[in-house]
Amino acid sequence: MRSHHFVRLMRNLGLLNLVVSLTYLCCVISLSLVLLGCTQNRRSLDQDDTLQQLLNAHDVEISVKTSDPDENKIVLGAALFFDSELSGNRDVSCATCHHPLLHTADQRSLSIGTGGIGLGESRVMIGATETTPRNSTDLFQRGSDQWHTMFWDGRLEMRPDGRFNSPADDELPDEISNILAAQALFPIISRTEMRGEKGDRDIHGQPNELAQYEDWQHTQIWQAVMDRLLAIPEYVDLFRAAYPEVEKDAFSIVHFADALAAYQADTYTFYDAPWDLYLAGDLSALTEIEKEGAILFFGKAACGQCHSGYLLTDQEFYHLAVPHLGPGKVRDYDFGRYHADQDPDYFAFRTPPLRNVALTGPYMHNGAYHTLEEVIWHHMSPLESFARYQPTHLEEEVRQTYLADPYLVGLMLDSYEMHGSADTPSLTPEEIDRLIVFLGALTSPAAQDLAHLIPADVPSGLPVVSGRDVQK
Ligand code: HEC
Ligand code: HEC
Repeated sequence: MRSHHFVRLMRNLGLLNLVVSLTYLCCVISLSLVLLGCTQNRRSLDQDDTLQQLLNAHDVEISVKTSDPDENKIVLGAALFFDSELSGNRDVSCATCHHPLLHTADQRSLSIGTGGIGLGESRVMIGATETTPRNSTDLFQRGSDQWHTMFWDGRLEMRPDGRFNSPADDELPDEISNILAAQALFPIISRTEMRGEKGDRDIHGQPNELAQYEDWQHTQIWQAVMDRLLAIPEYVDLFRAAYPEVEKDAFSIVHFADALAAYQADTYTFYDAPWDLYLAGDLSALTEIEKEGAILFFGKAACGQCHSGYLLTDQEFYHLAVPHLGPGKVRDYDFGRYHADQDPDYFAFRTPPLRNVALTGPYMHNGAYHTLEEVIWHHMSPLESFARYQPTHLEEEVRQTYLADPYLVGLMLDSYEMHGSADTPSLTPEEIDRLIVFLGALTSPAAQDLAHLIPADVPSGLPVVSGRDVQK
């Protein structure tokens, strides 16, 4: 009996022990889980706090367009944007270098204008004599009223009084209402981009009347473009619908520019990037790694010093010792901002905006780099990058223009010493990865596929550059 009791007691005790241990274990596990959860929550709250402070310090806040889009202007603008009738030889449209399939740029280091054939990387020179001096910019968010500069050298600039400094000086019509409209007046002046050379014949073999004017005859060239367009009845209808208040069909280049701006502003502005959603208050729109990248961007890596504000650019000009490519702006050289303001801060270029940047390589004012990683390495040690640069990955016609003669190198180094911007702090490869992940969060899902924007035809009946020309 006794031994029986003893065994039962022992068994019960064992059971009890087991129960006690199990309960204890459960408590420990759940407590750790709760604690872990708290730290994680705490961590992401800390992250959001840190980021919020950095954003306030860099004036980054969401800026949503408020004006109502005017459909008729947009329809006219779209027709103009895709129509090669705007170019002297009737072979190039705005879309040739700012194509929806190529995320509003052309995926080339330097563009090929009139005389070229094809689209994007597979575009070839044929009758073109040289590439453009600069990389084709994207067109995202260019309708924002925060813009006060256009082009890599800011040669078109809105002054505090609301008027413009531009290569056309006093010829720029007073009625031009915004900087994007003012920009649209210049591609049609440029011989390499759209106008062609004296004596050229267009694709029908007819004389190119736009090319006969001198480069400084802006008003005559603008009038000649309008004469062309208004000879096409469908354009007269489109202009009438867009500007019903204009009497006796007195349409001018001002209406042309206004419609192109309305189209670009409306069509290529998006607010659906994870970054936009985060700025609008959805703290879960960014992953933890993207937030780490953002904190680096505006914090330790100091990218936000120049890539600041809603557009991620301060629209200022910096000398970053980017390798020299392209036919140059004057003779063989491209001195950047100098060509606009004559200040001898050679080789300074405008801080580019970074929205959708993951989609719009090659990068820099001349497309010297193909990856974001190379761009960040360059920012960390510009002179080293400049000295090490090999143009081997570039399109043939761009590679040939790579300039590293002693005169150029001397000028580049001297002016960097005087005006160069401070190097980006040294970053680890992991930190660079995080920055790149953050740059990816600036991509709008809506910007990824813009194929639906390509029209089937345009009022002139000229061919529309379509996806068939893109070879990936
Ligand atoms: C042959 C290629 C080509 C064609 C055609 C072309 N562009 Fe461009 N575009 C460029 C290049 C290259 C730049 C940068 C030039 C510079 O900064 O000096 C540019 C710059 C711009 C910019 C300035 C954006 C900014 O951030 O500063 C806008 C806007 C623009 N183009 C719109 C247009 C429109 C509208 C048309 C048609 C009327 C057009 N482009 C035709 C190549 C082209
Ligand atoms: C001193 C101002 C400044 C700082 C700081 C700066 N940038 Fe830039 N960034 C520029 C300028 C100016 C260019 C264009 C240079 C050129 O083409 O000559 C540029 C170009 C770029 C480009 C290429 C974009 C394009 O469309 O071609 C990217 C991407 C970029 N920067 C990201 C960064 C990142 C990431 C950091 C931080 C690690 C950073 N930048 C720090 C001024 C700056």
